[in-house]
Amino acid sequence: MTAPAASPAHEPDALDLGLPDPVRDPGLPEQVRIHEVGPRDGLQNESGLVPVEVKAEFIARLAAAGLGTVEATSFVHPKWVPQLADAEELVPRLADLPARHPGLRLPVLVPNERGLDRALAHHAADIAVFASATETFARRNLNRSADEAMAMFRPVVARAAEAGIRVRGYLSMCFGDPWEGPVPIDQVVGFGVRLLEMGCFELSLGDTIGVATPGQVTALLDGFARAGVPAERLAVHFHDTYGQALSNTLAALRAGVTTVDASAGGLGGCPYAKSATGNLATEDLVWMLHGLGIRTGVDLRALVATSGWMAQRLGRPSPSRTVQALLGAARA
Ligand code: HMG
Ligand code: MG
Repeated sequence: MTAPAASPAHEPDALDLGLPDPVRDPGLPEQVRIHEVGPRDGLQNESGLVPVEVKAEFIARLAAAGLGTVEATSFVHPKWVPQLADAEELVPRLADLPARHPGLRLPVLVPNERGLDRALAHHAADIAVFASATETFARRNLNRSADEAMAMFRPVVARAAEAGIRVRGYLSMCFGDPWEGPVPIDQVVGFGVRLLEMGCFELSLGDTIGVATPGQVTALLDGFARAGVPAERLAVHFHDTYGQALSNTLAALRAGVTTVDASAGGLGGCPYAKSATGNLATEDLVWMLHGLGIRTGVDLRALVATSGWMAQRLGRPSPSRTVQALLGAARA
């Protein structure tokens, strides 16, 4: 008797084989919200202009992969970040996504009132302001002192609140600054508390240049706890320059943080901090979280396929280890 020919539908799928076997850790949360920053933080540093229809498809695919928050673009000065100068063209192309994915949020970065006017004209429901814990980065990124930048954000946050818009606060250089070196915890906590008191609903702590290690993360989160800021109001935003982003994330989860920023395929960097490399890759994060039995709502297969598609558009492989492993396994 001859064996029946294997139907393609029954062939083992490498992506199916390559999913982590979950083991829960009771010291960790049951659910994590991933704040996907690929289309904004990931693309802002790309030197070749990515066509607006590719950006729109990237965001649509990320939403379809189950990411509930996808930071779409920035209403910053187009000369400062030319890659995102097409924000006005991009945002209308995303208009039907929230109806297709109920609950989807598409925040945009806004540095000042001019940026807020542009965001309001395009009916943004979520924005983010972005401050610096250090003086040098404030001047390089925002052309102002750190205090002047805070003054710039105050009317933005107030007007956004009046318009019923949610404002996230970012704080950069929380763990080290390429020009100033180590950044004192009290300095970081001081700026962070000001953003929250201004009206930001959450504060994302940025390791802009990816130098943090887990002990530092725990110490900074302790500093915020001492200042009366609960972990639920904090998010972590790690760049992966020294391969520490996942370890740092685990330290943050142990301290009660449940919102983690990540970039599909590990894209990223900051044009105003050359030592910044890609963000924590969303796939690497999802692999770890699902391995720990933590719910994310993300379909890892769809996400990996999206990053593979985007890598082809950008003309180079994704730096994400999980993307490489799963796409490599699928090809083997
Ligand atoms: P400036 O040159 O000081 O601006 O830039 P200004 O207020 O003096 O205005 C000068 C001109 O720019 C005026 O036009 C304004 O209308 C115009 P004029 O009257 O001369 O014709 N202008 C604008 N036009 C369009 N949109 C605007 C806007 N604002 C002013 N929003 C500014 C100050 C803040 C605008 C500039 O420094 C800027 O755009 N910076 C953005 C830099 C940036 O996007 N960096 C990357 C994001 S931050 C990041 O990646 C870190 C993060 O991921 C967390 C982490 O990793 O740590 C979030
Ligand atoms: Mg960043």
